[in-house]
Amino acid sequence: MTVETDVDLQVEIAGCTFRNPVMTASGTFGYGREFEDFVNVSRLGAVVVKGVSLLPRAGNPPPRVVETPCGMLNAIGLENVGVEAFLHEKLPWLVELGATVVVNILGNTVDEYAQLARRLDGIEGVTALEVNISCPNVKEGGVAFGTDPLMASAVTAAVRRASKLPLIIKLSPNVTDIQLMARSVAESGADAVSLINTLLGMAIDLAGRRPRLANVVGGLSGPAIKPVALRMVWQAAQAVKIPVIGIGGIMTAEDALEFIVAGAHAVQVGTANFVNPGATEEIVEGIAAYLAKQGLKSINQLRNTLIT
Ligand SMILES: Cc1cc2nc3c(=O)[nH]c(=O)nc-3n(C[C@H](O)[C@H](O)[C@H](O)COP(=O)(O)O)c2cc1C
Repeated sequence: MTVETDVDLQVEIAGCTFRNPVMTASGTFGYGREFEDFVNVSRLGAVVVKGVSLLPRAGNPPPRVVETPCGMLNAIGLENVGVEAFLHEKLPWLVELGATVVVNILGNTVDEYAQLARRLDGIEGVTALEVNISCPNVKEGGVAFGTDPLMASAVTAAVRRASKLPLIIKLSPNVTDIQLMARSVAESGADAVSLINTLLGMAIDLAGRRPRLANVVGGLSGPAIKPVALRMVWQAAQAVKIPVIGIGGIMTAEDALEFIVAGAHAVQVGTANFVNPGATEEIVEGIAAYLAKQGLKSINQLRNTLIT
């Protein structure tokens, strides 16, 4: 289904123009090519690639994914090919197809984040960096950076110094005060924030009295987390002037539109890709159809229009 409308879906984030507000969520869309048969990546707002680290990572032992009643738990542990393989083997395909690429980065130390940012600075085809300070499934760094405002601020400032690229800092929901976290990264040089990453959870196999994940705990994603995500996105959008990108349980265009009404400039689609590999493009079309039906000319007219 393709809806041809003359509505303007473009959004501006950190000085970049994205063709529409629908991005893939890191780690749920591989490096794009995995979805080649289902999605035309050049029609998305951006492809946010699977998180890359300085060196390749094997991730956690299996089982690493568990289905739950309205979402999934994962403890992949940030398995990835490393930045050099990403640049040589993964990025060129995305660039050739005309995708807008946001590179998600992760490190164990502040210095590793800075080194990655420096390596990616000035690379043709890299539009922005998304800095993952919020992964709950790794032993070092990860969640600590995302839950302590001072550490979040230190990572943001170091990456800011290392790169001229637009910086999106990806926040963890595993905090009591999301506004404090959003403010501290905004004050340290973030151009935008994205949220939420997964919520810490666990699942038990009662028969064996064992955890279902080898890592015991993992990150919960999917429809179960949407109400939490909406609340946090709304709170973050009120706390900072920089753009907010909403993530969490977005399965349909209606879900995405709710985040935009709550104040998000753009959204990312994660778990939905596993259920319906064509979800992202369908959401773009659904948003355009909704705006046309409402008589709105631009997506920007809908943002932050929640009546409270
Ligand atoms: C299997 C899996 C792998 C993920 N890997 C990453 C990752 O590498 N980096 C990251 O920032 N977020 C990662 N995430 C988190 C997602 O990008 C997203 O923030 C989260 O799943 C919530 O969105 P959703 O409910 O639409 O899935 C991962 C999520 C899943 C389910």
